[in-house]
Amino acid sequence: MTKHVPVLQNEALDGAHIKTGMTVVDATLGGGGYTREIFSRVGDSGHVIAIDRDKTAIDRFRMDYPRIAEKVDLVHANFADIARIVHDRGVVPMAIIADLGISSDQLDDPQRGLSFSEDGPLDMRLDQSGYADGDTPTARELLATLSVSALARIFRRYGDEPFALPIARRIVAYRKKSAITTTRELANIVTEVVPCRFHRATKHPATRVFQALRIAVNHEYDDLETFLRGAMDVLAPGGYLAVISFHSGEDAIVKHFMREQARGCMCPPHFPICQCGTRARGDVVTKKPITPSSGEIAANPRARSAKLRIMRKNAL
Ligand SMILES: C[S@@+](CC[C@H](N)C(=O)[O-])C[C@H]1O[C@@H](n2cnc3c(N)ncnc32)[C@H](O)[C@@H]1O
Repeated sequence: MTKHVPVLQNEALDGAHIKTGMTVVDATLGGGGYTREIFSRVGDSGHVIAIDRDKTAIDRFRMDYPRIAEKVDLVHANFADIARIVHDRGVVPMAIIADLGISSDQLDDPQRGLSFSEDGPLDMRLDQSGYADGDTPTARELLATLSVSALARIFRRYGDEPFALPIARRIVAYRKKSAITTTRELANIVTEVVPCRFHRATKHPATRVFQALRIAVNHEYDDLETFLRGAMDVLAPGGYLAVISFHSGEDAIVKHFMREQARGCMCPPHFPICQCGTRARGDVVTKKPITPSSGEIAANPRARSAKLRIMRKNAL
């Protein structure tokens, strides 16, 4: 049974105006909390497509909720393929929801290597089958092959890690003596490099490095950009795109994308009529991102960094 507690679920589904009879895409099935609620809102006359790149999530949903699973269109794929997935089904969704990142089920499974709290192999691929994502290198392979500067770039870009360079140097020096294969080894290497005065009770010193490696292994930023474009293309006019992000890099991609889609004519102000022909494709409904209440954060601390942004595609 899933242990994942959905974050900002009602805010996202209310904000996307999900109603009886609609076709809705849940681009990130995870533990299935959103999918089940969407299913109950659209009813038997609606159509729910639920995607996950992790086959385990799909299989668990089938086991946990067999009756609902029969009626939901479960797709083992990368959400970057949303345009193809929707076209193949000949539908036009009224809402597309993506609750980004990883589920508690994935984080707590030591065999995935996503957490430093328990020892496990440094894998980090969300699609361990290789079916949805193709042949992606694992974190262990990246740590064994990338140069100091390439590793430092990953830690900086995807983790905002202030000690990116010394950590990358230590990794490359360490691997000359012995391969880095487990989460515990990596967590120890990072902890030794980060000066004690930067160790905080609430955040393990290796948190940023683990996040950065996971994003790199799963090419999360590229997939997110492709997903957002595809989602806007296939969404019905008047339909809603709702995205929940969990860290600043992810949120920045969503925010910039939505702003860009909402921008109309880009001609200089002194042009009497528009020459560029750029039309806004939608409106950003959430001028500021929606964040969880203090009650939700107290009940589910994992929610603390969540941000929900919603845009509505223009009617034709
Ligand atoms: C935070 S969980 C979703 C939780 C879900 N909303 C729920 O209520 O249980 C994120 C899920 O998205 C999946 N995921 C992440 N990136 C993906 C991608 N590019 N394509 C498809 N699924 C992805 C992960 O495998 C994970 O299961």
